[in-house]
Amino acid sequence: MGNRLAGKVAIVTGGNQGIGRAIADRLADEDAMVVVGDLHDNRSSVPGSVQGLTFMSLDVTKEVSIRTFVDEVLEKFGRVDVLVNNAGKVIHKSLDEQTADDWDGLMAVNLRGPFLMAKYVAPEMRRIGSGAIVNIGSVEGYIVNPWHTAYAATKAGVHGLTLGLAVDLGPDGIRCNTVCPGWIDTELNRAYVEMHAGRSFVEQELSQLHPVGRIGAPAEIANAVLWLASEESSFVSGEMISVDGARTKKISLPAILDEEYRAKLMKAW
Ligand SMILES: NC(=O)c1ccc[n+]([C@@H]2O[C@H](COP(=O)([O-])OP(=O)(O)OC[C@H]3O[C@@H](n4cnc5c(N)ncnc54)[C@H](O)[C@@H]3O)[C@@H](O)[C@H]2O)c1
Repeated sequence: MGNRLAGKVAIVTGGNQGIGRAIADRLADEDAMVVVGDLHDNRSSVPGSVQGLTFMSLDVTKEVSIRTFVDEVLEKFGRVDVLVNNAGKVIHKSLDEQTADDWDGLMAVNLRGPFLMAKYVAPEMRRIGSGAIVNIGSVEGYIVNPWHTAYAATKAGVHGLTLGLAVDLGPDGIRCNTVCPGWIDTELNRAYVEMHAGRSFVEQELSQLHPVGRIGAPAEIANAVLWLASEESSFVSGEMISVDGARTKKISLPAILDEEYRAKLMKAW
């Protein structure tokens, strides 16, 4: 598609599927050499999307796995210019159901993982005098769905990590930003919608929660990541950028008023 990342080496964690795979493909489209780090080498899961990607196994919950992975990337490619911390999990549990192990397990993937990835990649970026770290946070770092206490805490933590890394690594020429996706059409979310009997009603309701009239696509997150990874955003650091079709900008109305608003929107679409 282009050459905005020509000569750059990019790491994408959790890039086997979903948003991570769309990011990996988009960066490779712009001529980056992309290393996907994920639990399993799942290169054939999305046919036709593996050109320009290298797959290596990585468990972001294990410090030794991260060190080995970064060493292997350096051995093979000699540098790291871009780190995308995308690997993440979610749990849906009430406070009463949640255990300390649930909490620790989620923190390990969603927050400790990005911290350790940055820790082991930063010295290499410092050596070359530049770098871009892009985290995948969530709108749930600001607002929250029911039963997502732990998930929201991890994502708010990612937003805090972003601020800290931007401040501490800025003098080394390293920028750090976060993309906060709204509701994105991934396998995970599709399975969640399909669990409900009135699937088409749920889909319609979901679309209407978004002022733009629809949910997002993984490629739309990837485009925002590309911008933050590229020199086009060279003076942007420490930012949380929502990519959510303005869902988080709309205050809930009493149901009757909301219905009037929706009826107007339906006419407009
Ligand atoms: N889908 C959405 O609507 C949405 C919304 C907001 C934020 N997000 C965030 O976007 C990111 C990607 O979400 P997705 O919907 O594509 O999820 P997904 O479940 O489809 O993909 C997650 C990927 O991360 C990998 N992974 C999980 N644990 C790992 C570990 N310990 N080490 C390495 N890799 C690991 C998985 O194998 C998988 O390939 C996550 O951080 C998620 O919190 C998603």
